[in-house]
Amino acid sequence: PTVSIKDATIEASLPSGESVTVYLYGATVTSWKANGEEQLFLSEKALLDGSKPIRGGIPLVFPVFGPPPQNHATSTLPQHGFARNSTWEFLGKSSSDSGQGDLAVKLDFGLNHNMLSEDFKEAWPYEFGLVYSVTLSKDGLATSLNVTNESKKNFDFQVLMHTYLRVADISEIRVKNLESKTYVDKVRNASTHTESSNALPIAEEVDRVYQDLNPEKPIVVASSDDKTLFSVTREALTDVVVWNPWIEKAKGMADFSPDDAYKNMICVEAGSVSAWQTLEAGDSWEGGQSIKSRL
Ligand code: BG6
Repeated sequence: PTVSIKDATIEASLPSGESVTVYLYGATVTSWKANGEEQLFLSEKALLDGSKPIRGGIPLVFPVFGPPPQNHATSTLPQHGFARNSTWEFLGKSSSDSGQGDLAVKLDFGLNHNMLSEDFKEAWPYEFGLVYSVTLSKDGLATSLNVTNESKKNFDFQVLMHTYLRVADISEIRVKNLESKTYVDKVRNASTHTESSNALPIAEEVDRVYQDLNPEKPIVVASSDDKTLFSVTREALTDVVVWNPWIEKAKGMADFSPDDAYKNMICVEAGSVSAWQTLEAGDSWEGGQSIKSRL
């Protein structure tokens, strides 16, 4: 594998042609190429200069999902926390070989309390260590996060891998394996519903938090003729957010471009967001996702 570092971005590629690009800002994956094609959606107006979280790729949400609740340890943090708008450090790469010539390269990134801006340090005054690993193989892309509580008191966190999958045409895709699952519909006053569809089409604004999923059962994005485009399995992440901003919300986001690019993306976000993970002083937690494309 080849790994290069330039302008605060890390790029890795495999001899078989797959590649991944990660910005130190947010440890945000902005590109994943497989089968010669880009697999992730990145807005043409995404800000890549560290002035705003990157619109597209895989922003990492930590330690709070969405607008922070009132009277909570995260209350003064921005929406989706600080991980996606802090500058991480590159900890290094490692390669592995399955023996059948299947090479994989893993890139590790770190963030801790001392690296945060003064505002974030004040807003979330815990000593912590995050190690985020991005593993590229011929098979797919995996991302995992290790959280360590290095402070003397417990802390609560939520976490989510906000993956923007690239699709050719939103009207031609279905999201599968959500049937019979409970979800909170953020478009409909956070009301609770049970999914009735075994192949959910996206034909309007969708912002749903599906809960209590079996992480091993893949969430599949399929074409209308039922070919698998993406398959996402998780570890220790039992919630999945399905999000598409649709016409008006897309227009309303200054960093979302072109306006009709909502047709070219579907966010399938693996996380732990419907409750809080409590991490005791000295303890660690790990969770992640593995994405395969066009099986
Ligand atoms: C999703 C949320 O995860 O992220 C949506 O469920 C939100 O409600 C979306 O609009 C994008 O958030 P942001 O902060 O990147 O605009």
